[in-house]
Amino acid sequence: MKTQSIAAKTGVGAVELAVTDGVRALRFYRDYVGLTPIASEGSEIRLGAAGRELVVLHPEAERPVVPRTSGLYHLAILVPDRRELARVIDRLGRLRWEQFPTDHVMTKANYLWDPDGNGIEIYVESPEDGTMGFANGTFFAQDKEGRPRSGRDPIDLEEMFSHLREDDRQDNRLFEPMPAGTKMGHIHLHVADVEDALRFYHDLVGFDVMGHVPGVGFVSAGGYHHHVGLNTWAGQGAPPAPAGSAGLRRYTIELPTQRDLDDVVGRLERGNVRLAEVAGGLATADPSATGSCSASPARAASREQRRPRLKPSPVIPAGAGTRRPGRVGTPAEAGTGAKSSV
Ligand SMILES: [Fe+2]
Repeated sequence: MKTQSIAAKTGVGAVELAVTDGVRALRFYRDYVGLTPIASEGSEIRLGAAGRELVVLHPEAERPVVPRTSGLYHLAILVPDRRELARVIDRLGRLRWEQFPTDHVMTKANYLWDPDGNGIEIYVESPEDGTMGFANGTFFAQDKEGRPRSGRDPIDLEEMFSHLREDDRQDNRLFEPMPAGTKMGHIHLHVADVEDALRFYHDLVGFDVMGHVPGVGFVSAGGYHHHVGLNTWAGQGAPPAPAGSAGLRRYTIELPTQRDLDDVVGRLERGNVRLAEVAGGLATADPSATGSCSASPARAASREQRRPRLKPSPVIPAGAGTRRPGRVGTPAEAGTGAKSSV
């Protein structure tokens, strides 16, 4: 039983993914998503925004994401304003990449999959529009006047594109990278069992439970709507993907101070969770994992990242759903007609 919450300023750091084709994945995360490559050693490919590391690619997988397995549902990149989300939607439309811009009322989110089927959300906070969450064991969403909303409507693209500046849609601005202020907002996992996952993420890691209904749990630090989402949509008891599959290798929980990290490690150790030293920190595994999860004062690309880290490695690769990934084209393939699969 948890007696202390994780530090309020805890956040999610870099997410590490196994991919089948490093060149293709680099092009996708750089040109389509909008991340900036960061100097990397060995075969790892590091990308971020304004110096903050967000995604690490390991081009070692032999096959794409295997559906109906535990692991990544999506990583979620938080952009600083609606203009940036509009730029992303416009860019992906012009590159003809399948995307699903969705209005969650309190956030505006766009969903897509990388060429291997790793799930990605790119979103902006919009609490001024209303709220969404769980109450009395059920899901709800309402606008700022208190009227019920579905929470899953398509985004009003006319409103979204109204935030673009005059020259944002010019071709020479198409590949302008995501700006400072972009960060990893949350991660959402397919787990084998939500209750088991909550015992780990709430009781031991120390996140607060922000919502819990059968098959779904949201946990966070400092009152945020969720830093980690947990679901069994890949199936109750979903197994890890077979070795060699694309998917989640590890993600990072960043804590503000070493003492905050020590608190988490203490709870994990008292829970008989094994911790291992890894490059840049400690690692351990969540209940759906076969690997480990870790905490460390990391190899940082920016000062902000020189914080203690906890690196849960929920399973080797992940099932990211059953959608067929699109194909990474070249800039020359970018059409002029925006196509959003809303
Ligand atoms: Fe999400």
